[in-house]
Amino acid sequence: MTQSLFSLANKVALITGSTRGIGLATTRLMAQAGAKVVISSRKAEACEKVRDQLVAEGLQATAIPCHIGSAEDRQRMVEETLKAHGRIDVLVLNAAINPVFAPLHETADDTWQKVMDTNLTGSLHLAKLVLPQMAANGGGSVVMVSSIASQLAVANSGVYAISKAAVNHLARQLAVEWGDKNIRVNVVSPGTTRTDMIRVLVSDQQLLDAAIAQTALKRLGEAEDVAATILFLASAAARHITGQVVVVDGGQTLGLG
Ligand SMILES: NC(=O)c1ccc[n+]([C@@H]2O[C@H](COP(=O)([O-])OP(=O)(O)OC[C@H]3O[C@@H](n4cnc5c(N)ncnc54)[C@H](OP(=O)(O)O)[C@@H]3O)[C@@H](O)[C@H]2O)c1
Repeated sequence: MTQSLFSLANKVALITGSTRGIGLATTRLMAQAGAKVVISSRKAEACEKVRDQLVAEGLQATAIPCHIGSAEDRQRMVEETLKAHGRIDVLVLNAAINPVFAPLHETADDTWQKVMDTNLTGSLHLAKLVLPQMAANGGGSVVMVSSIASQLAVANSGVYAISKAAVNHLARQLAVEWGDKNIRVNVVSPGTTRTDMIRVLVSDQQLLDAAIAQTALKRLGEAEDVAATILFLASAAARHITGQVVVVDGGQTLGLG
């Protein structure tokens, strides 16, 4: 019973940005929970490498590259997934970028647009492609990966923080619009998590110590910590949870300092 609550057996899960970090950990965990997973990122070679690794581990995986900011790529990825598996039960909108370290007044307009197109608009448009077929198949679950930056004002990452705040509300909005079709839409909001995205922080001992000191649990998050919550929200264990933002940050936002 406990096992079946968290099982994704016979489900098809499409995870964006799944060749590294949180996306990869989520993909592996979902495949271990029985899902047929679709691996995607901008780089075909990276997708194929991860697929081969997972298949070698006895898991079911397909590689379909997709730049989340490209309408053509999104359309092709959904079409190829439906061709291969006939359905999408779980959509994890994880791919995102944070390319600038600058206050808002020094952030170029085209950088603003690129971050919004990738982190927010790309996720909305991919959801729009997937939700109608999910509804036609009796329901499903969408999990978006946001950030604790969505709840805090962050020096030098303003455009990223604003894009993630909008992602939190996108999920609430879609949860209301698709709830009667048995589709749940939730957000996981990670704190500082040890992945490539924070390699600059991890390589500076002072910054690293300060980030660890901010947490109640006195350690950084690992990709697997976040993946476990994404699996929970995608599974039947979370069947009455929708429109929520679940923070996975080891107590970083509690303000312990
Ligand atoms: N790490 C943290 O501390 C932290 C904290 C809060 C929130 N988050 C959020 O967690 C999510 C995952 O971050 P991460 O730390 O796991 O990042 P990561 O290790 O840098 O991995 C990012 C993944 O996304 C892919 N990707 C990047 N741009 C893409 C695009 N335009 N289209 C499709 N795929 C793309 C990358 O592969 P390619 O390069 O091959 O495209 C890679 O697979 C993001 O939404 C991030 O904002 C992370």
